[in-house]
Amino acid sequence: MAQLWGGRFTKDTDELVYRFNASISFDQKFFSQDIEGSIAHVVMLHKQGILNTSEKDAIVKGLTGIREDVEKGSLTISDEYEDIHSFVEANLIDRIGDVGKKLHTGRSRNDQVALDMKLYVRSEVVNIDDILKELLGTLLGLMETHIETYMPGFTHMQKAQPVTLSHHIGAYYEMFKRDRLRLRDIYHRMNYCPLGAGALAGTTYPLDRVYTASLLGFEGPTLNSMDSVADRDYLVELLSALSTIMMHLSRFCEEIIIWNSDEYRFIELDDAYSTGSSIMPQKKNPDIAELVRGKTGRVYGALVSMLTVLKGIPLAYNKDMQEDKELTFDAIDTVKGCLSLFNGMIATARFAKDTMAKSAMNGFTNATDAADYLVNHGVPFRDAHGMIGKLVLTCIEKDKGILDLSIEELKEISPVFEPDIYDSLTLKACVEKRLTMGAPGKAAMEKVIAIEREYLQSDWKDQDKIY
Ligand code: ARG
Repeated sequence: MAQLWGGRFTKDTDELVYRFNASISFDQKFFSQDIEGSIAHVVMLHKQGILNTSEKDAIVKGLTGIREDVEKGSLTISDEYEDIHSFVEANLIDRIGDVGKKLHTGRSRNDQVALDMKLYVRSEVVNIDDILKELLGTLLGLMETHIETYMPGFTHMQKAQPVTLSHHIGAYYEMFKRDRLRLRDIYHRMNYCPLGAGALAGTTYPLDRVYTASLLGFEGPTLNSMDSVADRDYLVELLSALSTIMMHLSRFCEEIIIWNSDEYRFIELDDAYSTGSSIMPQKKNPDIAELVRGKTGRVYGALVSMLTVLKGIPLAYNKDMQEDKELTFDAIDTVKGCLSLFNGMIATARFAKDTMAKSAMNGFTNATDAADYLVNHGVPFRDAHGMIGKLVLTCIEKDKGILDLSIEELKEISPVFEPDIYDSLTLKACVEKRLTMGAPGKAAMEKVIAIEREYLQSDWKDQDKIY
């Protein structure tokens, strides 16, 4: 047991208490951020005349050495220390002697941990955004390829109107694009530096918090020292954004699972992204899609846990806050893994164009267009709706599609029908007439795809609008 605070105690900590309290098993994740923050702190202390040059140099050299040794494996982060902060400080003192004891001047572990977590999360926000951008690139490629791959569009899981695969995937493209915007918002809102807040009430040393903040790439220092050590709002926001990403992935996975079923056969997942059964030799299961759908639960769980941990905490720092770490780390790792796997799965999947088109031709997906035909020939829409309803009934009775009926049969429903109805109700015609902005018609899709190509070329940090 190596602790930073033994002075006012007369007994050793109970072994179980020590282990219950310790965080080094998980906070070692931000080891390099802890070093980075300490170096910035020391450089600022020197600029302010609180440390002299040789003290500053010795501490910076010691910290850099610790980082190198851990990275190359000659120094192991061991659980004999309570947390990563204690590990670094104790090792520094071992390495450079008493001058190492000056590192913690004007600092508390409360502002230190607030900083480390922010630095870690800030860089992960960028990493997650990078993976999202990669996924958007894959989806946009599929949208370009499948601009004329027709498929049924559904409402209530019932065939509704024909769309294209490009358009369907485009819906998810928009969702993941909004996810990037959420991350961007979070990044900007969280990008203020808590270091210098001390335990809760600032410090009596003349720290230059603006300088420390700029050394660490923050917009500036936070403005209230109690809030600085007690704020975990950015984690709630992050976990909410991550939950939304998982919700989008999960919806898409659900569709892939359905499309991959024998009943649909719209999609065939690559062997590398499928698994078999130990008993049923014929099986090729969409386990990856199912796991992503399943893991959505743990990310939602992290959000609810975080909100619950925070709801009863009085100002300022309380140890409850240590609970923010494992669940946030787990959610971040889960989302990164799921996004990458999903990207590989969708990029390698094969889409059964003919099956999709055939499916879109059944189920009267052209019924709205038949009503529109009548409207274009002067029939009021509500009357047209009723007539086509009857037409569909007739078709069901005869076990035929609308286009299988003769012109005489059609004219029995409405004398307005002429032979040009056959061309205007084909699958292609039904889709290509839908040209309102955001609709699946080819010309409309091409405009959207051009907007999205340009968007993917722009820098995330400059984007604050959908387009
Ligand atoms: N391990 C602690 C945490 O994660 C670091 C801060 C400890 N501060 C304290 N006053 N005990 O929150």
